Amino acid sequence: MKQSPQEDPVREHSYDGIQEFDKKLPNWWLFTLYATIVFAVAYWIYYFKADLGPTQEEAFDLAMADISARAAEAAAKAGVIDDAALWAMAKDADAVAAGEQVYISTCLACHGANLEGGIGLALNDGDWKYGGDPLQIKRIVVEGLPTAGMPPWGPVLGDEKVNQVVAYILDKQEN
Ligand code: HEC
Repeated sequence: MKQSPQEDPVREHSYDGIQEFDKKLPNWWLFTLYATIVFAVAYWIYYFKADLGPTQEEAFDLAMADISARAAEAAAKAGVIDDAALWAMAKDADAVAAGEQVYISTCLACHGANLEGGIGLALNDGDWKYGGDPLQIKRIVVEGLPTAGMPPWGPVLGDEKVNQVVAYILDKQEN
């Protein structure tokens, strides 16, 4: 330990006969303190005054959206498909174009050139007798409704073409 230099003033008070030097705080310590103050002000302005940074809710939503996108991607790679993956396919122009070909050759005769219905139900009116979630639509396409006159297309088309035609139907919805 370095001996305290004599020029440090001795404080007036005395505790039980013990006196203290009035030492200047070390520069590294003061610099750290000032840096935290500057950081706190900058942080406060960035997140709370100028609203530049994302709030915790926004950061959370972003992270969750990223996770579900990755999950959908992984599921699609693994051959498992879910609602999100089918919606993602509906945004994919190639999948929708392939689905349109399937629709024209397989579905159009009963569901109409513009999905307006005919022998089968309308697929563009947002009104779903058997449910409008992507997987519910897919199930009807795969399994059909034999008693109601809708053939099961799963065995005929195979999984990929079924997914594509579902993507095409989803793409044609209003929302
Ligand atoms: C032979 C005629 C026929 C063909 C071909 C056909 N469907 Fe259908 N489809 C029907 C009928 C009939 C219904 C309605 C059954 C009912 O009223 O319960 C139906 C219902 C549906 C439904 C349910 C609609 C709702 O409101 O829930 C979907 C989805 C569907 N079809 C998709 C397809 C797709 C996709 C294809 C082509 C791969 C296809 N269909 C080909 C006759 C057909």
